[in-house]
Amino acid sequence: MEKVLLIISGGIAAYKALELIRLFKKADKQIKCIATDSAMTFITPASVEYLSGDVLRTSLQDPEQEMKMGHIELARWPDIVLVAPATANIISSVANGLAGDLAQTVLMATTKQIVFAPSMNVRMWENRLFQKNIEVLKSNGSKFLGPSEGEMACGEYGIGRMMEPQQIIKSLI
Ligand SMILES: Cc1cc2nc3c(=O)[nH]c(=O)nc-3n(C[C@H](O)[C@H](O)[C@H](O)COP(=O)(O)O)c2cc1C
Repeated sequence: MEKVLLIISGGIAAYKALELIRLFKKADKQIKCIATDSAMTFITPASVEYLSGDVLRTSLQDPEQEMKMGHIELARWPDIVLVAPATANIISSVANGLAGDLAQTVLMATTKQIVFAPSMNVRMWENRLFQKNIEVLKSNGSKFLGPSEGEMACGEYGIGRMMEPQQIIKSLI
């Protein structure tokens, strides 16, 4: 596995994506990143771009990239697609075949291994509707790393914390 497409969705754990980029680079992997609109409220393009050494893609409405069908190029490019953190929204959208933004469109278009590192409140994680979506994705070949159990940003305790970047890297490399 040499080429990683990292999709950063809009959870409180988005800051951990920066450490993931740093660790992938340290392991000599090539990395390209996509951030959802929500993710952009948690992290800045500059941090992602300086760490990854590549332009951050955030929107389908990007004529320069899309003149050459950039979203399909992105879907074809990696060896794996890692979604970290993976929100309840992006997981459920993909499980239901939605392609409402660049991140979801690439996830729908790729034939490469998709790995989700979920991060959310414990009640969201345990929601039965949501768990059905996880089962759908697993039966379609997607893999899941975490979430782990512990204290959450919302003050609750339970399963829902994003797996630590070091552990994710260890599982993938
Ligand atoms: C402060 C804050 C923290 C949030 N943390 C999470 C989270 O950890 N997990 C999650 O699934 N959603 C979280 N959300 C909700 C998502 O941002 C929201 O569902 C959004 O639509 C996700 O969009 P995306 O999947 O396109 O990134 C949070 C929202 C806010 C305002």
